[in-house]
Amino acid sequence: MNNITALPDLQIGNIRINPPVIQGGMGVLVSGPGLVSAVSNAGALGILAAVGAGEDCEDRSLNYADRSSEGLRQMIAKTRSMTSNPFGINIMCVLSNYVELVRTAIEEKISVIISGAGLPLSLPSLAVGSETALVPVVSTARAADLICRTWKRRYDRLPDAIIVEGSKAGGHLGFSRDEIDSAPPELIDIVKDVIKVVKPYQVEGKATIPVIAAGGVFDGKDIATFMNVGAAGVQMGTRFVCTDECDASIEYKNSYVNCSEDDITIVQSPVGLPLRVVRNDFIKRIQAGGKDDFYCRYQCLRTCDPSKSSYCIADALKNAFDGNMNKGFTTCGANAYRINKIVPVRELLNELAEGCLEHLNPSLVESDLCTS
Ligand SMILES: Cc1cc2nc3c(=O)[nH]c(=O)nc-3n(C[C@H](O)[C@H](O)[C@H](O)COP(=O)(O)O)c2cc1C
Repeated sequence: MNNITALPDLQIGNIRINPPVIQGGMGVLVSGPGLVSAVSNAGALGILAAVGAGEDCEDRSLNYADRSSEGLRQMIAKTRSMTSNPFGINIMCVLSNYVELVRTAIEEKISVIISGAGLPLSLPSLAVGSETALVPVVSTARAADLICRTWKRRYDRLPDAIIVEGSKAGGHLGFSRDEIDSAPPELIDIVKDVIKVVKPYQVEGKATIPVIAAGGVFDGKDIATFMNVGAAGVQMGTRFVCTDECDASIEYKNSYVNCSEDDITIVQSPVGLPLRVVRNDFIKRIQAGGKDDFYCRYQCLRTCDPSKSSYCIADALKNAFDGNMNKGFTTCGANAYRINKIVPVRELLNELAEGCLEHLNPSLVESDLCTS
């Protein structure tokens, strides 16, 4: 039996995703066309990261925002040449060219836009008349409530799904440093709260808002744990870095494979949010009060103050993407240390689907088989 088809679909708008896994958008360039097409070809949902999309754009005559939009168009075209299945784009609210990137994604008729690192309260105003599914990322039930209430009141629409990202995630975290250092809420509890909070909106709007768990999800059993309490699927980032198809350098991938739990630490990012990283010499220099010599060519993040930052996060992450670890570092989820090899995307997804099926509440498996 093919385990993938035995799992319930994750349905977002008109898109059916099976296994019910979203590969989280990962910048800078980490989730590019290679990874995204491989994930979508395997039935899950691949997500391009829009941050840094202009880095590989050849037309240097364009200004930053135009180069980013052009770079994003090129990434989309390349991905479409490698898969005919739907895929999405992650566009962080904190990007200074957020509006331009969203407009580009909408013009390109992209299937899904995922937006976090801030509250995407005005996102629907940029997508009027389009069929693109809009999916916010939140870290609290309060944020989910605020987005549903605001979107309903202002735009008479609801999110097509909500991703709930907990404190074990890779990338920037939606928690304060104090929360992380004390006892941050468990992801499963936030997921349950979000499911409760969106219920009245679903009933009133006669809509379905799938709730998706993200942050530290490592294996199929984890996926089943969240689905058994009502999540419709998961979003995972870290595990997809260590795949053959991931676009990042082998040095980036090996930073996960070779790290121990103690090597994973949290730094304050120039974005103004905590960021989980693998500690290397670059991070040690910064943590010891060192300052990297950098020149800000463009203010790519609204909340970054280059005069107060000790390094440029865009440059550091691009350098790591290219394998230049002396001048950069990698961001990762809390469970990165558990990865010990690099595998093909299909192998990873099959392993996740099998593990999930083994631990999934049988009623969820049966209901899917009855309808398929
Ligand atoms: C290398 C890396 C880069 C990431 N970049 C972004 C990003 O550009 N935008 C964003 O919203 N989330 C970003 N994330 C978060 C992921 O989309 C995802 O939600 C998260 O990785 C889930 O946690 P996990 O890594 O434990 O699976 C990144 C995560 C990683 C590991």
